Amino acid sequence: MNRNDALAQRADEAFRTAFGRAPALLCFAPGRVNLIGEHTDYNDGFVLPAALPLGTVVALAPHADARVRCVAPDVSADVETVRLDAVLARAGTGHWSNHLRGVLAARAAAGAENPGADVAIVGNLPQGAGLSSSASLGVAMALGFSRLAGVEPQPGAVALARQAQWSEHHYVGCQCGIMDQLVSAAGQDGAALLIDCRSLAVEPVPLDPDLRIVVLHSGVKRGLVDSEYNLRRQQCEAAARHFGVASLRDIDAGAFEQGSTGLDPVLLRRARHVLGENARTLSAVQALREGNLRVLGECLRASHASLREDFEVSVPPVDALADVLNEALAGEGGARMTGGGFGGCLVAVTRAEGVPVLEQAAAMHFARRGERLPLFLGVRPARGALLLGP
Ligand code: GLA
Repeated sequence: MNRNDALAQRADEAFRTAFGRAPALLCFAPGRVNLIGEHTDYNDGFVLPAALPLGTVVALAPHADARVRCVAPDVSADVETVRLDAVLARAGTGHWSNHLRGVLAARAAAGAENPGADVAIVGNLPQGAGLSSSASLGVAMALGFSRLAGVEPQPGAVALARQAQWSEHHYVGCQCGIMDQLVSAAGQDGAALLIDCRSLAVEPVPLDPDLRIVVLHSGVKRGLVDSEYNLRRQQCEAAARHFGVASLRDIDAGAFEQGSTGLDPVLLRRARHVLGENARTLSAVQALREGNLRVLGECLRASHASLREDFEVSVPPVDALADVLNEALAGEGGARMTGGGFGGCLVAVTRAEGVPVLEQAAAMHFARRGERLPLFLGVRPARGALLLGP
């Protein structure tokens, strides 16, 4: 039984235990790892994420009452009941049911009807690791309710992603971009996705069959994430206003040189990161297409340095681990922090034979600190949200 079969079975059991009947639908949506293009999505820029073979399963069955009952046994023993005939109130900050409430409200805001339902949620992504467990839940939930409502035509990947993103903005409290939700909805087997976050065009970038994506937890649980994240977004918007453009996507290196006089030094660094990161993302795509692991490695290392120095979202233990991985790779591929920052995971791209090399180097790094190696995965890009059954 593979990991996601086991997850589907757990969702089925959780549903039966809570509601004493079988679910009508099981919907899966994956988490993601971002190869490069960090903090560019909300600047209308380029990102290159891949869907992971881990995620969230939402089990659902309809009922006639105008309410949704929901359980999430991984995080709480409570049954959450949400009335559909009243305004969908937000629960307290950080409460898991905001992911449910937010998606229901997003669907209502988009003019979709929410059927009464019982829902069970289970997942196999570590939380607070920067692997988008939140987006995967939002997308699985959006897919589940759209299938349950059964109205044709079904929303496409972009519509599902937008609903899940709306939920984050209005109910969960993070002013995130669209990368996590869109790759969770649209991910493709064996390919990373180059997403133009302005047009939302999605272009698969196949990974050579010999390549692996390594995802490694730094052991630092992400903290202060939403407040620092929202601040970075405001700083980027302020920098764009300084340049007189709608978003930082609209300035090139020349305009940056010319227009940066008088710009606050912090905003200047934030803008410089975004400009450079967009260019690096496109170079990384070309390097992957040409199978050039050296150039890809340069892009990944430069991305990390820029996130550390200019965007200031890395933390010393993550920097130290990135150095260990990059040293072990010796230029054939590269490693960097991934996701919003402030702890969480690192990503590396290497040949299959490099995976055990990285695992050993990381294990030694943690052993020197008297710690065990946290989560370590060597994976291929997986597919996006789908109906699993029953
Ligand atoms: C988080 C957000 C994304 C993106 C990344 C940083 O994962 O949810 O929208 O901004 O941070 O690249």
